[in-house]
Amino acid sequence: SPDRPLAGRSALVTAGPTHEPIDPVRYIANRSSGTQGYAIAEALAAAGADVTLVSGPTTLPDPAGVHTVRVETAREMLDACRHALPCDIAVCTAAVADWHVAPAAQKIKKTADAAPPALQLAPNPDILAMLSQPGPTRPELVIGFAAETEHVLAHATAKRERKGCDWIVANDVSPGTGVMGGTENEVILITAAGREHWPRLDKAQVAHRLVARIVTFLQTPHPN
Ligand code: C5P
Repeated sequence: SPDRPLAGRSALVTAGPTHEPIDPVRYIANRSSGTQGYAIAEALAAAGADVTLVSGPTTLPDPAGVHTVRVETAREMLDACRHALPCDIAVCTAAVADWHVAPAAQKIKKTADAAPPALQLAPNPDILAMLSQPGPTRPELVIGFAAETEHVLAHATAKRERKGCDWIVANDVSPGTGVMGGTENEVILITAAGREHWPRLDKAQVAHRLVARIVTFLQTPHPN
């Protein structure tokens, strides 16, 4: 129906940060409120899609009408995403930590004389790159996000190639922009066909506009 154009379609959205424990009381994380990803999950559900939101730790409530799966680490996020396959649409907004450490079983104690502990970092899986890999369960449309603080277009265009996703939503998260943790976003949508600069919009409006683009894409014949 026209008001539920994604009825019968399934979508996976990742959102929020991941937390990588160092010991029982400390962790490594990226900054992310989850706001943009939650808004996209809600907008996809409002358009009729069957939505799984895989979320790292946030303070946001589970969006209505969305199946929300809460995880802590990148490896847990990857597992939850694998469980959500197959799906038609994947949107990766999560600010996944690039590394984890083998966590200490007990709180690491400060000592006055000893050197500070060194963290042995090991790489985390790249969930967007995994979802983008060709194969029988690859979603028809895979969308990544690129939060950059400089050379936004160049970095995001390179990221689209490197990750193998179909679209990248690029945004400038420099401190002066107020995007990080804020309610507005100003993005560039990068597709195979080129790029589109969108005006500064509320994150909910960015979500609705993105969903409108997803609907058009899925209704139009395309390769892959
Ligand atoms: O490489 P970078 O983290 O800048 O790429 C950002 C995009 O990749 C986002 O869509 C993010 O959700 C996704 N990503 C991911 N798993 C990672 C790192 C990034 O899904 N380990």
